[in-house]
Amino acid sequence: MKLLLVGGGGREHALAWKLRQDDPSLELIAAPGNPAIAELGRCEAVSATDIEGVCALAARERVDLVVVGPEAPLELGLVDRLRDLGIPAFGPTKAAAAIETSKRFAKELMLAAGVPTALAQTFTDASAAKAEVQRLGAPVVVKASGIAAGKGVIVASTLDEAEAAVDAMLIDNAFGAAGAEVLVEEFMTGEELSIFALTDGTHVLPMIAAQDHKRIGEGDTGPNTGGMGAYAPVSIAPPSLLAETVSRVFEPTLRAMREAGCPFTGLLYAGLMLTPTGIKVVEFNCRFGDPETEAILPLLDSSLLAPMLTIARGESLASAAPLRWKPLAAVTTVVAAAGYPGAVRSGEPIDLPDEQLNVTIFHAGTKRAADGTLQTAGGRVLAVTAVAPTLAQAQQDSARAAGKVAFAGRQLRRDIGWRELRRGAGAS
Ligand code: AMP
Ligand code: GLY
Repeated sequence: MKLLLVGGGGREHALAWKLRQDDPSLELIAAPGNPAIAELGRCEAVSATDIEGVCALAARERVDLVVVGPEAPLELGLVDRLRDLGIPAFGPTKAAAAIETSKRFAKELMLAAGVPTALAQTFTDASAAKAEVQRLGAPVVVKASGIAAGKGVIVASTLDEAEAAVDAMLIDNAFGAAGAEVLVEEFMTGEELSIFALTDGTHVLPMIAAQDHKRIGEGDTGPNTGGMGAYAPVSIAPPSLLAETVSRVFEPTLRAMREAGCPFTGLLYAGLMLTPTGIKVVEFNCRFGDPETEAILPLLDSSLLAPMLTIARGESLASAAPLRWKPLAAVTTVVAAAGYPGAVRSGEPIDLPDEQLNVTIFHAGTKRAADGTLQTAGGRVLAVTAVAPTLAQAQQDSARAAGKVAFAGRQLRRDIGWRELRRGAGAS
């Protein structure tokens, strides 16, 4: 089987690693891939957002399956184009990707379908948005409807802060087109969970829950990032909560997508909050999360390739067996560049530990210099995953190995999974 993987981050490295395990004879091509994916297959210098370039590559190589990692090519309609060419592709169409790329679309769909989520209204007029801010009172949440590089959500603790966010988006155009519509949303409290489900548009295969760590600093302090680490499983998400998420979130959402004429197939990511009144959706993503994927996939015992192929071929998951999980815990510690989540400098030489450390090191932002040296090439550089019988052990192994990665200005958190350990779960 020949597979084209689109993307080149830590999520794609984890996907490549798992898919090659599922089928050791898999012929893997990546666009553009990264230096570690290059050891599992062949990387082609085609950008993930070069839709025509990716389609030409898939056609030329006569691949059996295209797996799309990031949201950007999905938003640009890559899967629609591949389907037109008759090439099986895993991922939603452009219209279905709106569940992530338009927060307004996602919110209206959820509210109409009775999916539990915070109440919100959409505005294009700043004074109307501010009136809603005043009506709800602080704390209140202001969101750019479109994709704003993870920076479009302002959880405002004061009315002034919320009004300033409205002005920044609707008057000063701080987020460009992504902020031309804003949502003013009720504030929710509780712990957040990421729950992924593979879906053919109707049936779902849910994965175990993971918890991301968005803040740069230990103890969840400092600015938000793309994610500084993740762990799985999460004890506050037992099988009963996964079943509830399927029946109250995934199934009604998928039904509403079918009824809206844009059935969602691929991987649907529900970002949930466990509020005092039950689960509520914070956001949907139309693809695997990063770094949660690097924690979840090493625990997946059954094949990922088989359900992906079923979905991409447009077949039904009705008779697919549930996913099977190793009874172990995983912790992923992200090693980030100096300056992250602000501007970073690329090209710092990276020293990887050469001793056996019981971890898998996924490459998130690396490149190979002309002389063969491995260098940093992005904000999140590596994602170091340890799998162990206990979460405490996995945290220790992951942090220790991540601490042995050396490059100038390296940043990492050594406390990934701290909420779970504080609960006393995962310690034995
Ligand atoms: P999003 O991009 O929608 O996932 O939002 C980014 C982060 O903002 C989430 O992970 C939450 O921590 C926070 N957030 C978003 N919406 C709310 C809300 N209604 N109440 C409280 N926090 C929120
Ligand atoms: N880990 C958050 C995301 O992938 O969007």
